[in-house]
Amino acid sequence: MALWGGRFAGNASSMFKQVNDSLPFDNVLAEQDLTGSIVWSKALNNAGVLTDDEQQQLQAALEELRDQARDGELDFAASGEEDIHSFVEAALIDKLGDVGRKLHTGRSRNDQVATDFRLWVREHVRSLRSDLTALLRALLSVATRHQQAIIPGYTHLQRAQPILFAHWCLAYVEMFKRDISRLDDLSKRLNQCPLGCGALAGTTYPVDRHDIAESLGFAGPTLNSLDAVSDRDFVLELLFTSSTSMMHLSRMAEDLIFYNSGEAGFLQLGDEVTSGSSLMPQKKNPDALELMRGKCGRVFGALQALLVTMKGLPLAYNKDMQEDKEGAIDAVAQWHTCLCIAAEVLDSLKLNEARCRQAASQGFANATELADYLVSKGVPFRTGHDIAGQAVVKALEHGCAIEDLALSTLQSICEHIDEDVYEVLQLEYGLNKRNILGGTSSETVTQALYREYETLDQQ
Ligand code: ARG
Repeated sequence: MALWGGRFAGNASSMFKQVNDSLPFDNVLAEQDLTGSIVWSKALNNAGVLTDDEQQQLQAALEELRDQARDGELDFAASGEEDIHSFVEAALIDKLGDVGRKLHTGRSRNDQVATDFRLWVREHVRSLRSDLTALLRALLSVATRHQQAIIPGYTHLQRAQPILFAHWCLAYVEMFKRDISRLDDLSKRLNQCPLGCGALAGTTYPVDRHDIAESLGFAGPTLNSLDAVSDRDFVLELLFTSSTSMMHLSRMAEDLIFYNSGEAGFLQLGDEVTSGSSLMPQKKNPDALELMRGKCGRVFGALQALLVTMKGLPLAYNKDMQEDKEGAIDAVAQWHTCLCIAAEVLDSLKLNEARCRQAASQGFANATELADYLVSKGVPFRTGHDIAGQAVVKALEHGCAIEDLALSTLQSICEHIDEDVYEVLQLEYGLNKRNILGGTSSETVTQALYREYETLDQQ
């Protein structure tokens, strides 16, 4: 039976039920709805609307339903109810008769769903935060396993300057730390409780909204009833954070797919995160990484979809807003899966340090060092840059690296070049010269790793 039956003579068509019913997906809010309802029953009791006995009966029935929800024992599909709120109310009436019919006094599904979904987001923010922390640990751990390994650093996907592999890991540590801080940020704005705002204009019963908010673990109540029932910014912020973090995961995946390619050969991925080809026996494909990249589409889509859904809505609640859930539920699930699989990929990967070093030594990644060397000899940087460019051309002609050119050849380009240039052109030399906060020198990176471990341990 629909909650709103009295006004209607006819039944909803099955097609209308198909478009209107949200129970098939909003049943994930069962626990939150039951918790919110327990608090609401207490608020009504305190306001003198429910007797102690009625409140106790309601609470016992709601707690029983909550246990069943936790154990997966509620049969949503068989109920035929419209949404999770109707489901819970119908179950209460079934158990308690008229007492069950009293719970919805002064409450609307509008303030109810706004509260439930905030509770749901809050819970998922907590678990996503710990997924992110686990990923940070995996990044630090692989960086430590290969702390001295040198890889080529790229710009434009051209070898640019050598960097430590650990420095690459720490770049992603920074990104995922920012994602954590975005979650912390949105948690602050999420932390207000809409319950007690009624359908749109506030409730007529003298419930204590501060008390309700506190009982549900919020910092306080929302301050405007119209806004409270029609605000979905907290979902948008979660979707934006999910999207940004998926973008970070995707870039990391893209780097690793390239490093894992036959052409680069910098690393191998474990069997546990790769798959083979049904046709080509030699293949070991980086599917986990490709899916981290691929799943961005649906997560970004969910953000876009909700923005578009919300943009034209007049105040206050409109049924359009029911569309806030499926995309968010899916986005959170995908983000969670990708964070976990990313950590597994990092745990499984083995760096081929010799091959990385060889690649970092090729491609004239030390040309900047030659320019800087000339600066140390009093040559203006722009001139040094030009001379180093000429040295690259010479090396290309000889089919060798800059450091393999004879001193006389180098001196034919610039008289300021001396024997000591060969030390400068060594791989570690330029790398360790970048001994500046945020740079790739072995010392800075070791300090950064130490600092990140410490911060994580304090969390
Ligand atoms: N299932 C609805 C939703 O998710 C609950 C709110 C319904 N309110 C209403 N007045 N029809 O948005």
